[in-house]
This record gives sequence, structure tokens and C-alpha cells, in this order.
Amino acid sequence: MTYARIIGTGGYLPENIMTNSDLEKIVDTTDQWIQERTGIEQRHIAVEGQTTVDLAEAASRLAIESAGISAQDIDLIIIATSTPDKIFPSSACILQARLDIHGCPAFDIQAVCTGFIYGLAIAEKFIKTGSSKNALVVGAEIFSKILNWEDRATCVLFGDGAGAVVLAASEETGILSTHIHADGKYENLLRVPYGIADGYDQVKAGKAFVEMKGNEVFKMAVNTLGRIVDETLAANNMMKSDIDWLVPHQANIRIITATAKKLKMSMDQVVVTVHKHGNTSAASIPLALDVAVRDGRIKENELLLFEAFGGGFTWGSVLARF
Ligand code: UT7
Repeated sequence: MTYARIIGTGGYLPENIMTNSDLEKIVDTTDQWIQERTGIEQRHIAVEGQTTVDLAEAASRLAIESAGISAQDIDLIIIATSTPDKIFPSSACILQARLDIHGCPAFDIQAVCTGFIYGLAIAEKFIKTGSSKNALVVGAEIFSKILNWEDRATCVLFGDGAGAVVLAASEETGILSTHIHADGKYENLLRVPYGIADGYDQVKAGKAFVEMKGNEVFKMAVNTLGRIVDETLAANNMMKSDIDWLVPHQANIRIITATAKKLKMSMDQVVVTVHKHGNTSAASIPLALDVAVRDGRIKENELLLFEAFGGGFTWGSVLARF
């Protein structure tokens, strides 16, 4: 049986750090409020001119290097992003050219904070059906460009960054199951309300910013993630205690803690980066994975549960042996 196995990880964060006290000077907020309600202490923010593909390229080069393959061995490129450099070509095509890869399929997917989970689910199907041998799956975002820096309810939450993995066809166990879902009826709770349909002028006029009814999203996220955990364990006939590591989407430490509690996991088994990265949307899971792989916490053969919830609404999980 062929599995899709993660053979390399990479992450990249812009050097520029914005702390909570920096934000106190911009909007009516406090370091104490942000830390107590979200767990966030700081976030990385791209500098002028730095783009999503710049971050994706840096993360991808590290993932390819750690996989021990060359860029030309990659035969599928997927970027999950809600902040692509251009309307087209896709960020994946721009990245493909920069990596000097030619001919393989390359495309973006848009599932906001669940984008990386969607990307893994799609790439796994390509590998299992024999269409791809080495897939590059990237989550990359520059949310700082779609934030209203006068709205304290959203601008304190997000950060910029990119994470990437190389998934390879393997006879050894890798991804065991993927679970992806969406329900478009909740658009009014979390969205960027303007886009191409409204005309470019609306976007240029500065209306294309994240809008969120945070408290309602919070409750939906906690309940939905609880359900996806049950669905994933049941599909694999596994128990909570089988999981070695939870690598969750990093939106809010209180959401992460609620999922860990549901799994009866100690926080020592949960990879947390939200305090340093903020919410980097589709980049948050591969960034967290990369941090815990590089610092030696996550080891080969351990069982990892990835889960996410985000705009759309979209939600999903992946269970994988590392
Ligand atoms: O990744 C995609 C999915 N996104 C999420 O999962 C985010 C989910 N939501 C959340 O993480 C939380 O709801 C937030 C962190 C966004 C907000 O926390 P909360 O505990 O739900 O607060 P709240 O929205 O109910 O607001 C509580 C109070 C309000 O004041 P009043 O009405 O009680 O006087 C807000 O105006 O906190 C106020 N507030 C702030 N105060 C200081 C909102 N933002 C801020 C702020 N600084 N930055």
C-alpha cells in the first residue's frame, strides 16, 4: 500500500516583529487583554515589498533541503493562501518558476485557516493514486495586508509567515486519514467583505479587510474541533491516548487548550506557537510542525493530529504517522 509521508518540513517568518506593546500605540488595547484572551505576545509582520510567495519560497527551500531531495524531484505544488501575490498567475505557479521547476501541476487553494489541511488532503490523493511522488504543500500568508489596523478586534490577532512540507510516496505508514468540511452559510461571521465582484476600486479604497464576530466564531470553533477529533479517531479505530502530538491551527490559546482537554492530552503534547506567531492562517500548522520537528520534540514514527477551523467556514483534520 502506498502512503503519503511527510519527509521534510520548513518554515519562514519575516524578521520584523510587532509586539503587543507596539500595538498599544496603534489601537486602544493592552498587552494584558491580548495575552489573556488569545495567548499572543508578538507576531511577525512582512516589510513593505515582501510578498506571500517570498515567504513561501523561503519555507519551501528549507522543506526541500530537509527532505534530502532536489527541487526538480517535486512533481506537484500546492499553496494554501488567502493572500496570494496576484489574482493570477497563482502563487503556486510563481513559486514553481522561482524554484526552476517546469511542467508539474501547480495551483493555489483557498480554505483560509484550514487551507493547509485541505492542501494535505488533496496532495495525499495525488500520491495515493500514483499521480505524484513528491508533493510540495505550502501554507503562506500575509494577513497584515488585509487587516484594518484601526479595528482592535482583529488587527491584534494575525501575523505573517509560511510553512511547507514535502510529502512523498512511501511504503511506510504516513498519512492515515484526512477529513475536510465546509459550510458556507456562516459567511457573515468571518470574511473579507469586498473583492473582485465589487470592482477593483472598492479593494483599492481600503475596504477589503478581515471582519469577524470573534465571540461567535470562537464558540463554533471549539464545538466543531471537538467533533472533528471524534470523527478522526473513529475513522481510524483509535483512542485519544494513541495520539502523541496535537499540532493545531494557532488562532487562540483558549481554543487550543479546549481541544487538548477534549483529547485528555497534557499541554506538553501540544505544539503551541500562537504566543510567538499570532494567527498566521494557512501557515500556522506547517510552521508549528516545523518548529517542533527542528527542536527535536516530534520524532519519527510518532502519531500526529493536525486540526483547523477557519473562514468559509471550513474545518478539517489529518492523522499522520511522522
Ligand atoms: O483562525 C480563524 C478562526 N478565528 C478564530 O478562531 C478566532 C475566534 N475568536 C477569538 O479568538 C476570540 O473571540 C477573540 C480573541 C477574537 C475575542 O475574545 P473574546 O473573549 O471573545 O472577546 P469579545 O469579542 O467578547 O470582546 C470582549 C470585550 C469587548 O468589550 P465589551 O463589549 O465587553 O466592553 C470588546 O470590545 O473585549 C473588547 N475588545 C478588546 N479590548 C482590548 C475586543 N478586542 C479588544 C482588544 N483590546 N484588542
